Amino acid sequence: MSVAVVIGAQFGDEAKGKISDYLAANYRYVVRTGGGPNAGHSVHLPEGNVVLHQLACGVLRKGVTGISGPGMVVNPFGLEAELQDLRERNLLKGDVVLSDRAHLLLPLHEIEDGWEEALRSSLARDSALGTTRRGIGPAYADRYGRWGIRLADLVRPNDLASRLEMLYARKAHLPGLPERADLQRSLTELGGRLAPLIRPTEPILWGAIDRDEPILLEGAQSALLDVDFGTYPYVTSSHPTSAGALVGSGIPPAELDQVIGVSKAYATRVGAGPFPTEVEGEIGDYLRREGAERGATTGRPRRCGWLDLLLLRYATRLNGFTSLAITKVDVLGGLEEVPVCTQYLTPSGETLTLFPPSSADDLARVTPVYERFPVWPAFTERLKERIRREGVHALPPALKRFLGFISEQTRVPVEWVSYGPRRDETLWLGRGAPTHLGPELSEWSG
Ligand code: IMO
Ligand code: MG
Repeated sequence: MSVAVVIGAQFGDEAKGKISDYLAANYRYVVRTGGGPNAGHSVHLPEGNVVLHQLACGVLRKGVTGISGPGMVVNPFGLEAELQDLRERNLLKGDVVLSDRAHLLLPLHEIEDGWEEALRSSLARDSALGTTRRGIGPAYADRYGRWGIRLADLVRPNDLASRLEMLYARKAHLPGLPERADLQRSLTELGGRLAPLIRPTEPILWGAIDRDEPILLEGAQSALLDVDFGTYPYVTSSHPTSAGALVGSGIPPAELDQVIGVSKAYATRVGAGPFPTEVEGEIGDYLRREGAERGATTGRPRRCGWLDLLLLRYATRLNGFTSLAITKVDVLGGLEEVPVCTQYLTPSGETLTLFPPSSADDLARVTPVYERFPVWPAFTERLKERIRREGVHALPPALKRFLGFISEQTRVPVEWVSYGPRRDETLWLGRGAPTHLGPELSEWSG
């Protein structure tokens, strides 16, 4: 039937979890393909709020299998706690499978992450990356340096012991490591408990493709945090792009038929790095407050700013988005106007429209050029109720024009709009909504 991937189109926290959870109702498998506990995917269920870090949101739905895939780095202690929490709250409705090829992220990596951040800071002011300190960079470095330990090793005590010994030798420079024997013991015990969930996931997904069962790849992080195509070095250590999702799941490229980019109607970023459309002061505080923009993983306040269409066009090309989901439009209702960045001016007077500078320093020096849109009304319960009843016809005209502008500028249809955190506050606008101004769009944008 179909393989679709949900990709963050900005700097993370676009509400990918919410969109993935909404879409998961139509899929048989949901797969996390990269990253680890740096992700925080919030899902607002009628029973309460859930933040998933290492489990795919499919685990929340009966009849769906949530796979933590091969491309991930998994903190097994955190993962067990996440499972336990869902079980206690009676929210673990789907099946859980953990790829045997996923790498273990250990306390050593968290210590190394903090140690590296301190080293960067000591070498030059403002040079820390502002990582989540979950050990992501060091765990991927060990993976590619071939020092890593995989979930498969967790259930093979002899392999675990010898690989742990090598890893400890490699990390001898780090202060405050836990006793190796203690870690080995607790990992072996944990391996025993997780063993029934750990298995090769490629045959499961290939079988699903053969049987025409739909698969949703749930991206974590985002295009602009990609280790190569993001704002290096202010990036994460994986490939949160559509190509990365294929590598991270073992699904061949030709099977992918839908690439869904998720973007907020404005923008946020956590951690350091260039953010051309950042706004501080009163408006920044407004977005942070109304959008509840606080990291779901670290609790850090998120930096806030306006939608950057140059970066969205770039993410669109890079990932091949076939449709967009625009989230948190309700947060902007109540402002006086909605600025949207359409191009940059460089210090040398050049205009950039499609492709951002590859250097983070150069990106930090551009001046964004804005178009300003009239704002739509606040999303009252009454308006939300009307949207639920009447669909696209009830969307405020100013919002339709804004969404139409995004489609026109990216040449990708906006297929979903999300206007609140709850599961039922997402509206499907229809397949193939027009990509540029034409008779259909003027009809559609009312
Ligand atoms: P979700 O999936 C937002 C950011 C960190 C930091 C940089 C590197 O919820 O969108 P890392 O710990 O990965 O080495 O940190 O990447 N970052 C995220 N920002 N959402 C995320 O995940 C993120 N995962 C990493 O803040 O700037
Ligand atoms: Mg998040």
